[in-house]
Amino acid sequence: MIDAAPLLEGRGIVKRYGELVVLDGVDVRIGEGDAVGVVGPNGAGKTTLLGVLAGSVPATAGTVRLRGDDVTRLGPDARCRRGIGRAHQVPRPFGGMTVFENTFVGASAGARLRGRAAYARVIEVLELCGLAELANRRADSLGLLHRKRLELARALATAPAVVLLDEIGAGLTDAEADELVATIRELRRQRVAIAWIEHIVHVLVQGA
Ligand SMILES: Nc1ncnc2c1ncn2[C@@H]1O[C@H](COP(=O)(O)OP(=O)(O)OP(=O)(O)O)[C@@H](O)[C@H]1O
Ligand SMILES: [Mg+2]
Repeated sequence: MIDAAPLLEGRGIVKRYGELVVLDGVDVRIGEGDAVGVVGPNGAGKTTLLGVLAGSVPATAGTVRLRGDDVTRLGPDARCRRGIGRAHQVPRPFGGMTVFENTFVGASAGARLRGRAAYARVIEVLELCGLAELANRRADSLGLLHRKRLELARALATAPAVVLLDEIGAGLTDAEADELVATIRELRRQRVAIAWIEHIVHVLVQGA
């Protein structure tokens, strides 16, 4: 029997900025429903790796495949529509828009849902991320925990097959991080594959 292609695969990923070699031949395979943790010190290249997988950082060399298709030359928007979601290390909401509207962008532009289907997706994701009560709040009025949750909600609204999480637990209290871990566990039950960067290793271990 021939093995099916992994959901998301990076092979021989190299990223250089001038003389600085940030990634030097990195291989990564993420299968359907997998949870892969990435740990490493500051400046190790973790965010750069997620950027290469998500399409926001062009690799110097190497290939990225999604379900066997070469997506190396596709930008982040096209990769998002094919199923790669990303939550950034520094949350990037549209500040002047509400929590609902921000999440709606993910459902419409990312998952390409319309009308009731988009609305239903937003509600489901906001409930999962503990944001339903804040749906009408402007994103720029949120504190760190809720901005982190919104970053996750926006990624999930795009209906990703794999979601790339960049330190969504960083800066949170233990109790707040535990709440996020519960959300991640639910994602795993839904068979969403996860690649998760986190400095706080015990948070990663709990979520696995
Ligand atoms: N656009 C860029 N131009 C030049 N150097 C960059 C650029 N982006 C990142 N770097 C450098 O690449 C290295 C890796 O950065 P990266 O942000 O991927 O690390 P990280 O592992 O995510 O770190 P942290 O744990 O602090 O988030 C660092 O030395 C950083 O200064
Ligand atoms: Mg980083």
